[in-house]
Amino acid sequence: MKERPKILVTQKVPEPAYPILEAIGDVEANMEEGSIWPYEELLRRGPGHDYIYCLLTDNIDAAFLETCAASTPRLKMVANMAVGFNNIDVEAATRLGIAVSNTPGVLSDTTADLAFALLMATARRIPEAERYLRAGKYKGWGPLLFCGAEVHGSTLGLIGAGRIGKIMAKRARGFDMKVIYYDVYRMPPEEETAYNITYMNMEEALRLADFVSIHTPYMPATHHLISERELHMMKPSAILINTARGPIVDEKALVGALQTKTIAGAGLDVFENEPAVEPELLTMENVVLLPHIASASLKTRTLMATMASENIAAHFKGEPPPNIVNPGVLK
Ligand code: DGY
Repeated sequence: MKERPKILVTQKVPEPAYPILEAIGDVEANMEEGSIWPYEELLRRGPGHDYIYCLLTDNIDAAFLETCAASTPRLKMVANMAVGFNNIDVEAATRLGIAVSNTPGVLSDTTADLAFALLMATARRIPEAERYLRAGKYKGWGPLLFCGAEVHGSTLGLIGAGRIGKIMAKRARGFDMKVIYYDVYRMPPEEETAYNITYMNMEEALRLADFVSIHTPYMPATHHLISERELHMMKPSAILINTARGPIVDEKALVGALQTKTIAGAGLDVFENEPAVEPELLTMENVVLLPHIASASLKTRTLMATMASENIAAHFKGEPPPNIVNPGVLK
């Protein structure tokens, strides 16, 4: 009989994730709600586990992977409870023969819902208006009170049209928006027709969009994809929405563009140096700031949590993990 594997869960996750892991192995878990182990602690606790179940806030770098690969038992797999896996050095993991998995698909609708909510909230100045009312400043209806940008009938520019971007296009259709997109991969014509979406190069998309919403993964090629130059291509009335990854946008350049009114506003769920936020953003009324909650519905987070466990269970049983990102290591 196969020895029970040692599994480390780095943060407290939705409850249904644990029984799947406990059925196959011995689980050591950080059960303190909201606690994120600092890197040194991760490095101290990680070695000696067959499997590591981690989150996007855990820095699974080459040094960490090398240490865990040199330990007994040797690390076999890292299962990230997130679709994005830029917190993991996948190249190093692959070199060391360590499998990496993520949680794609289950969060796409929920993430697009939040991206659209952020678009609406920023355009219609909802948080700003609510702050005003709560501060006791509302003295009656006014013809110019909190006039914002029109959403229906406007143009949405998607930078990246993968799973989440496509769903965003569907949401936008309900608001009679015209949807244009730029992606390194162009969709086949029948898919463009199905999503009622028009391909453009990035410059055209930035120039024409009233709302620019980012849906690309973060990788070296997308670092600061939106920087000063790109922000200058956007309309002065345009609003930037980012629910993907913070470092895709040069946050200092964004602050500059908002200060000089190069663009009109921004809705941000992600930041370049999370959890830090450029201090100037906190003082601006024309930005809506959220603490990386795009996939945060209990149902979706539970699906993500069990999916990460199931990837580990499959690997242990000798089956291909359904969401492996470096399948080459299984050969
Ligand atoms: C992800 O999964 O990558 C999101 O950023 C959090 O759900």
